[in-house]
Amino acid sequence: MTLWHGRFEGTPSSELLAYTQSLSFDRRLAHDDITCSKAHVKGLAISGIITEVESRQLLETLDKVETELASGEFSFAYSDEDIHTAIERRVTEIAGDTGAKLHTGRSRNDQVATDLRLFTKRELGGICARILEFQKLLLGLAESAEDVYLPGYTHLQKAQPILLSHYFLAHGWALARDFERMTETIARLDVSPLGAGALGGSSLPLDPDFVAMELGFAKRFDNSLDAVSDRDFVAESLFDLALLGVHLSRIGEELVLWSTEEFGYLRLDDAYSTGSSMLPQKKNPDIAELARGKSGRVIGSLTGFLATLKGLPLSYNRDLQEDKEPLFDALNQLSLGLSSLSGMLSSAGFDFSKMRRAADSQYLCAIDLAEWLVARGVPFRKAHAIIGGLVRDSLERHVDLGELVEAHPQLGSEAAELLVPGVSVERRLSLGGSGTEAVKIQLESFRSMVAREDMRLQTLVSA
Ligand code: ARG
Repeated sequence: MTLWHGRFEGTPSSELLAYTQSLSFDRRLAHDDITCSKAHVKGLAISGIITEVESRQLLETLDKVETELASGEFSFAYSDEDIHTAIERRVTEIAGDTGAKLHTGRSRNDQVATDLRLFTKRELGGICARILEFQKLLLGLAESAEDVYLPGYTHLQKAQPILLSHYFLAHGWALARDFERMTETIARLDVSPLGAGALGGSSLPLDPDFVAMELGFAKRFDNSLDAVSDRDFVAESLFDLALLGVHLSRIGEELVLWSTEEFGYLRLDDAYSTGSSMLPQKKNPDIAELARGKSGRVIGSLTGFLATLKGLPLSYNRDLQEDKEPLFDALNQLSLGLSSLSGMLSSAGFDFSKMRRAADSQYLCAIDLAEWLVARGVPFRKAHAIIGGLVRDSLERHVDLGELVEAHPQLGSEAAELLVPGVSVERRLSLGGSGTEAVKIQLESFRSMVAREDMRLQTLVSA
């Protein structure tokens, strides 16, 4: 039996049921749907729409249905179009006429919007917790990297020696923006749509403020049309997840490069790499590649869902049912991605001496030579040209750059000292840069940022 059987003479076609159902994926909202229904029942009782006895019976029945769902005992019917229908049907089977009062003053339109907000609030909080774990891993790696340096790249060409700790922290700061963005999305979505009805509210004396408070939302909706139409929070969550995916993809790309024989900066642990079905010697970084690959699919979910929303008239339209699969998938992928990539990174063995050797090219200190001249009054553009000329000469004639520096009238042996391995990062002073002292200061502010995130997460979890 459908929820609208009174109005219809005929029964729904099998195609209609197959095409319009959402039960196959929205059963993931079961727990939040029960929570939403319990608050609704309490609201109906407070407003005197149902009696205390009816309220108690409904709450007990909802508990029973929740237990059936959790234990797998719940049996779904062919006609259960979605999780809301299935739960209401079962409540009515158990509680008869009282069960039939559950949906009083409510539509699936405000119900589904409420369920999905409850769900998203919790799940994004879970992603924040995983981001924080990842940042703690990066912090630990940065702390243990001490004075290890490697080449920093621009255009994937060696540029300057960079401290490995600086490298790890760079990814940590990007994740800090993801964390912050998600907490802001959570704060914005913290609005209860319950009580908006199908689109225009109700003639019954509902109390949307009470149910909002009961559900732990910061406030209730202001406009019922907007309340049932608004899926900004899904689009925002998808964006936040897509950008997090992009960040993981960039980390993944570096792990792919660094694990090659050509770079050789790290060795992957067996537990986090795969072999080849044909080539016996292979060890492949599949997790890192999928962190790269799957980010494309999450970007697709974001753009696809924005296209779904575009052009929809107010208020609820069935198109909105298309909000769940992309959101669920993005949450799954990012949560798995964060844990797999952190496992890969924490179990990898880093080859510090390979990194140092790769950065111990005199050419990577060219800017230090130019800045040495600047400190002695030479205009930067001229200094750049002088050192550029020496580099060219060294490369063309296969002469050691150090020898040319020593012999140069404006440079000499003091300047040649800059080419000694490790000197470049020691001398780099500017704040936020990759010098030894500056990175110590940076590590301190990263640590306090992580502590602030820890506290923020506690309030998110207890909210
Ligand atoms: N399964 C639907 C969804 O996810 C629930 C709302 C259905 N509302 C309606 N008027 N048909 O959006």
